[in-house]
Amino acid sequence: MRRNLVAGNWKMNGSLAANASLLSELKAGLESVGCDIAVCVPSPYLAQCQAELAGTVVALGGQDLSVHVSGAYTGDVAASMLVDFACKYVIVGHSERRAYHGETDQLVAQKALVALQSGLTPIVCVGETLAQREAGQTDVVVGAQLDAVLALIDLSQIKNIVIAYEPVWAIGTGKTATPQMAQDVHAALRNRVSLRDGESAAIVKILYGGSMKPDNAAELMAMPDIDGGLIGGAALKAIDFLSIIAVA
Ligand code: 13P
Repeated sequence: MRRNLVAGNWKMNGSLAANASLLSELKAGLESVGCDIAVCVPSPYLAQCQAELAGTVVALGGQDLSVHVSGAYTGDVAASMLVDFACKYVIVGHSERRAYHGETDQLVAQKALVALQSGLTPIVCVGETLAQREAGQTDVVVGAQLDAVLALIDLSQIKNIVIAYEPVWAIGTGKTATPQMAQDVHAALRNRVSLRDGESAAIVKILYGGSMKPDNAAELMAMPDIDGGLIGGAALKAIDFLSIIAVA
């Protein structure tokens, strides 16, 4: 039985004051939690969030990392830096990074590899655009995105990744994939993992992301291959994030 993971992706949102109140409301609202929880925060706030979350069940994560160990890579964040702040997770291949930073399937796969080698759990995002879905290309696109990662990492490491299916057309738009639409893609992704390793396929968590909210989280997470959510907007409101955690 896979344990659900609810991970908040704060994206480029927050301030010292806003984070402090969000995290204190979150901590106050957590009781008898039955799922894994994480927040992936902007790098400048890692120290603040590490301190706020110390001793809680909420794990910390980064939103991206460099494939390089250190050196002349202005603006980039190394895996070891995320580890320094006790991060457990790091998002790789979010569609916003693929779209605005030109990240390729190959680069994303390398980032997943570097994360694993550093002891971080990569949350590998895959997803199709509306045009790709309408052209019937969903499985081909997300399959290629996942295969690039599966081809690069060690067989024994597959169970240590988290996959997040985030249809690009559902992110921040209020449009959600129907539970069945999401389930179909999740099942196809799990099947791809099983082609590489059946045992890992049963273990690996596949999250849904894209306008997951308190009012649709239950029906999405009721699907057999949906193991939690990667939450954008709703992770910025403690009451909404807590409701999704309660569902999970
Ligand atoms: P929204 O929940 O705001 O649609 O964002 C989803 C997302 O991109 C999480 O990574």
